Amino acid sequence: MRLDRFLSEMNLGTRSQVKGYLRQGLVTVNGVPERSADRRIEETRDLVSFQGRLLRYRQYVYYMLNKPAGVVSATRDSQAKTVVELLGADYRGDLFPVGRLDKDTEGLLLLTNDGDLAHRLLSPSRHVDKVYQVKVAHSLSREDVACLEQGVDIGEEKDTLPAVVEVQEADQILLTIQEGKFHQVKRMLQAVDNQVLALKRIGFGGLRLDGELEPGAYRELREEEVTALQEAGKKRPDKRSL
Ligand code: URA
Repeated sequence: MRLDRFLSEMNLGTRSQVKGYLRQGLVTVNGVPERSADRRIEETRDLVSFQGRLLRYRQYVYYMLNKPAGVVSATRDSQAKTVVELLGADYRGDLFPVGRLDKDTEGLLLLTNDGDLAHRLLSPSRHVDKVYQVKVAHSLSREDVACLEQGVDIGEEKDTLPAVVEVQEADQILLTIQEGKFHQVKRMLQAVDNQVLALKRIGFGGLRLDGELEPGAYRELREEEVTALQEAGKKRPDKRSL
């Protein structure tokens, strides 16, 4: 990898900023000052330091964010704050959210630069579970629960895939689905003449939202959580069932 690319992936700045740092002699490779941006390095073997601080290369990073309402699930937006802006000093230019939560939805959002895993987790054929805590306008009847569990018409070509509903309180359910259509949960509740008043995702592909994370807070995934996600991305059930 080129040295300037390595430095900008390590979050030191844009390609032109890091070229400036190189010209100023702030970067060493294996202890020797290096000024050329096109110097090729072996990122897992060469020891690159910036102002004496060793930069540890990690190809892939994974963060769990408790998305607050009012922030958009995008990498840029001309008006609203984006989820990647919440990462502060851990921000790097190649990070993106895995899928989208609506602006008013809270909860678990995975941020990574691992495009391959993201693609697998979002692929409809992998049937990855998403668990939502849903505050509803009216309590659900047994028939409503049965309809949601069997699949409802939300105006798409096919009914929704079977879901799992757990009634927690008169106005709150846990809904587990394996699809991610636009406004899916809101449209599912509309299909049974109800309305979503508040929506929070608490589970995604074997990951559970860390209860210690306040809205807007994030943390890196633990190794076993990354493994659980990788397992979830491998599943390929062949039946239309949970
Ligand atoms: N379903 C919705 O309606 N909104 C979300 O943000 C996620 C799922």
